[in-house]
Amino acid sequence: MNTKTDDEDLLDNKDARGDLVIRTLAMPSDTNPNGDIFGGWVLSQMDIAGGIATKRLAKGRTVTIAVDAMTFHLPVFVGDVLCCYAEIIKVGRTSIQTKIEAWAVRQYHTERVKVTEGIFTYVATTEDRVPRNVEQK
Ligand SMILES: CC(C)(COP(=O)(O)OP(=O)(O)OC[C@H]1O[C@@H](n2cnc3c(N)ncnc32)[C@H](O)[C@@H]1OP(=O)(O)O)[C@@H](O)C(=O)NCCC(=O)NCCS
Repeated sequence: MNTKTDDEDLLDNKDARGDLVIRTLAMPSDTNPNGDIFGGWVLSQMDIAGGIATKRLAKGRTVTIAVDAMTFHLPVFVGDVLCCYAEIIKVGRTSIQTKIEAWAVRQYHTERVKVTEGIFTYVATTEDRVPRNVEQK
């Protein structure tokens, strides 16, 4: 018997690269003056997703050092469910490069579209904010 809800089916996104790390609702308070969702809000959700993924890998504190190759493919609207997927693509001495994809499930629709993607780089640090080897802990 299929015990999955429609909602869970939506999360089963075979087109997305990486693991689903964040799923959140785009609210009216997150809009820009045009009434669409502010790109900075989307970027911050993606940054949070990368932070969660890299902290897990580094087993400790990580900070964002660079954001590259950001592309905003499509707008995000109020009521969309934003899903952020993270894939670790490179582990250096102290840095971790992560591909983040943001997908939106449109309100009242089953449509799922890739809205934004980018490469986020994090550095593993000590509690004193000094870079440390990723594999150190
Ligand atoms: C992150 C921070 C501790 C790094 O300190 P640093 O002395 O510049 O460190 P390093 O020069 O040794 O670089 C650390 C790693 O980042 C990489 N790096 C540096 N600049 C980079 C860039 N522009 N893009 C990608 N990677 C970069 C280095 O190659 C190195 O990786 P490796 O050890 O795997 O080879 C420091 O830059 C910092 O505190 N930045 C502010 C972080 C922040 O506030 N982020 C926002 C909130 S989370």
